Amino acid sequence: MSRRGLERRAFLAAAAAFGLGARFPAIAAPLDARPIVERRTIDDLVRNDPGEVARIRSAYANMFAWSAAHPNDPRSWAQQRRLHARAAERGQTDPAFMIHGSHHFFPWHRAYLYFHERILAWHLAGQTIPDPSFRLPVWGWETSLDGLNDPTMYTEPRDRAGHPNPLYHARRFASFESSDTDCRTALTFGGRDFFGYPPTLGASNNGSIENGVHADVHVDVGGDMGRIVTAANDPLFFAHHANIDRLWSWWSALPGATAAATFAEWRSATWQFPDWDGSLVTVRSSDLLDHDERLRYRYGKPSVTFFAPRDAREGSLVRLGSRWHTPHAVRLQASAAKRVALKLLDVRVPGPGLFTVAAIVPEQSPTPLVLGTFIVFEHHMVARANAYLDVTEVRTALLHPAGIRLVLMPDPHTPRLVELEASQGYLRMAH
Ligand code: C2O
Repeated sequence: MSRRGLERRAFLAAAAAFGLGARFPAIAAPLDARPIVERRTIDDLVRNDPGEVARIRSAYANMFAWSAAHPNDPRSWAQQRRLHARAAERGQTDPAFMIHGSHHFFPWHRAYLYFHERILAWHLAGQTIPDPSFRLPVWGWETSLDGLNDPTMYTEPRDRAGHPNPLYHARRFASFESSDTDCRTALTFGGRDFFGYPPTLGASNNGSIENGVHADVHVDVGGDMGRIVTAANDPLFFAHHANIDRLWSWWSALPGATAAATFAEWRSATWQFPDWDGSLVTVRSSDLLDHDERLRYRYGKPSVTFFAPRDAREGSLVRLGSRWHTPHAVRLQASAAKRVALKLLDVRVPGPGLFTVAAIVPEQSPTPLVLGTFIVFEHHMVARANAYLDVTEVRTALLHPAGIRLVLMPDPHTPRLVELEASQGYLRMAH
């Protein structure tokens, strides 16, 4: 066979391995025939595999270079990052695109990363046959208390040979709060509280990960990452979201977790994404559940011991006038629990921002006791959000038999307080 013929045969084989022609949501088979490859952590790569670090950098460098020449190509960096901002913008008026503040959060971002990864594999190969072994790195911030977990792969402006590092992005890490990366309590929530609720315009129906640890890390990185419309301008976005995706994956294997969000609308939601060959692919949420088999990537074992949703109980708080009371039986359970979370549904917020929830406890100092914070991304007219706060350390104050007042500090820089208004409140206790 001629050299050209051989090349063509190799191309077809590789193209078949990449699932060219096989399209969602045709069959419940792998969406592509690549090997199942682990998405490794930055920490692991930096310590053990400088060659893979170089490949990831060169995939991005090639994508950036391609972008300069073909800024309108959907596989360019310019269009890849814009995809996130555009979807978020569309979500201001179209609930199907509320990829933040609803149960669409996990599946949309999983699909976004999957196609981004395939396109990077194509760039890595010099825009020919995508490299079937290329996978995105994961920023495993949950394993180290300062949350940084060696991101030098992204933070050094130049590599050892002095070449500019394409993963470097200016204006990051003004501040990082260690407590912001603890996701153990958020993972004790089951079903809808983990995924979030169906979208409604004007509300953030987020689950326990989204406006907790996910948003906290965005804001702590700061710069472009700190705002929804610019977040994907920073390549670290994709490593951060790979970790969010990994938490979903780990959570799914915990006893008492459900495979998918319970609402029918969740399973049937579809979106379109450009693939490496330039085609537009339709994906459905339910296609995305089994990432090993269908999307051909896996994650390493959990780095932290998690409390499973099955081992957590919930007790609702009773609101009488301006006070929230914990029923006696719930108080007993909460005192004995290993982790305690406060869940507040439909908290009234004056718009997007960072909110501190505090308690005013009878017979104690008039200074409110800070319980935690949550973040509401800048969606238009957002007036309500769900809050999931880890209150393990301050539970005794919350359990005061005379009840407590809950207040919201809408501005972290001034001590102004407003009465917290929420439709329901619960304690979630893991044993
Ligand atoms: Cu689409 Cu981390 O946000």
